[in-house]
Amino acid sequence: MYQIYGGVPLQGKVKIQGSKNAALPVLAATLLTGEESFIFNCPQIIDVQHMAKILTSLGCKVRRMEDGYLIDSSQAFCCGMSGDAITGMRSSLCLLGAMLGRFGKIVMEHPGGCVIGERPIDLHLKALEKMGVVFEESGETLTGHVEKLQGARIRLTFPSVGATENVLLAAVMAEGDTELTGAAREPEITTLCEFLTACGAEIHGIGSSMLRIRGGRKLHGTQFRVPADRIVAGTYLFACVGCGGNIFLEDAPCSQMETVIHAAECMGAQCQLTGSQAVSEKGLYVQGPERPRAVSRLRTEVYPGFPTDLQSIALAVLTKAAGKSIVEETIFENRFRVLESLKRMGANVELYTPKTAIIHGVDRLHGAAVEAQELRGGAALVLAGLMADGKSEITGCEFIRRGYEKIGEDLTDLGARIISV
Ligand code: UD1
Repeated sequence: MYQIYGGVPLQGKVKIQGSKNAALPVLAATLLTGEESFIFNCPQIIDVQHMAKILTSLGCKVRRMEDGYLIDSSQAFCCGMSGDAITGMRSSLCLLGAMLGRFGKIVMEHPGGCVIGERPIDLHLKALEKMGVVFEESGETLTGHVEKLQGARIRLTFPSVGATENVLLAAVMAEGDTELTGAAREPEITTLCEFLTACGAEIHGIGSSMLRIRGGRKLHGTQFRVPADRIVAGTYLFACVGCGGNIFLEDAPCSQMETVIHAAECMGAQCQLTGSQAVSEKGLYVQGPERPRAVSRLRTEVYPGFPTDLQSIALAVLTKAAGKSIVEETIFENRFRVLESLKRMGANVELYTPKTAIIHGVDRLHGAAVEAQELRGGAALVLAGLMADGKSEITGCEFIRRGYEKIGEDLTDLGARIISV
């Protein structure tokens, strides 16, 4: 449980952890090399530990180093994958592409993840079927096999991040070239492409929605640094918008955060990017406003639009803004589950449609006992607690810790009064 005594402006500096959503597919991709790789700057969070556990269960030698993992996949073997590490984590899905790429086979229990919408996997399966994979689903088990993966022309009808990752992982190992149109352009895709390229793969169009992948090149192990987490940096940026103060987010990946920084500025923050030229420290300075301003409309979009992962966090700040705001969610339908808890803290927010929330900013939020039900909604409650008068108690912190290495310590370093009990 986090106990938070709100109402304190933030002050100071924190270093942004490595990116969860970038680290997980890169760790899965180490399976493809059959050699040793060192992945630096992995965040120490449960989902990353789960991925390390899965790789170990597949015969990889996995050694935790100070800020990363040494993974030797030379002795890896194919076996059925089940248990908490698989079913509790949606990102275990990227093992589909990695296992099919390495072994031409996968048997796994249906993966889970945060409870934010139905989260089907049809796009993953259809794309891999185009490469020759035959899938069977029986009960909770998904089985896939292919004699030899074939390069293919694949078009995603929606730019799914996970499906793009799976196509990449399979395509680098396939016979022949793959052309993927409608690919996701999220920075985590670029990171995976950079890792695979460092291992010897040939991928063209990196960062665009059309990827061309040359199949069948021999991959080798490498050393790779996971970039900083744009969602964690965005969370602390919005914390400063909500609480006021002055903070520095060291290593914040500003070039991946343009829309987020723009939204924070519309809400009254003053942001200054560093690290571009002469300034030695790379990161983001934020000066929070005395009171956040309302925004006429904040809409989530695929990258480079405003990320769905920061929607509830920005919404929490808008509950205290001067004026009326509208927030529209277009990616995951269940992101608004956090509204009931925000209302218990005094927020005036209603669903206008299942995808649209209207927020009438209030002068004050008050502390309350609330429960996190998923990762980003949980972080939104932490922010609301920081902005509220008096004491809040947030339970369900295990959800929050799935994405934040040390949110309590980081916010304490920024002067917040937050205790983990
Ligand atoms: C990833 C991120 C997640 C982020 C999301 C969108 C990881 C571990 N998770 O999730 O934090 O919020 O991208 O940026 O990297 N969809 C289908 N069929 C499919 C696949 C997806 O209908 O086969 C739908 C989903 O239900 C959702 C939308 O597409 O509505 C986006 O999903 P996707 O881009 O695949 O997100 P994830 O890879 O699951």
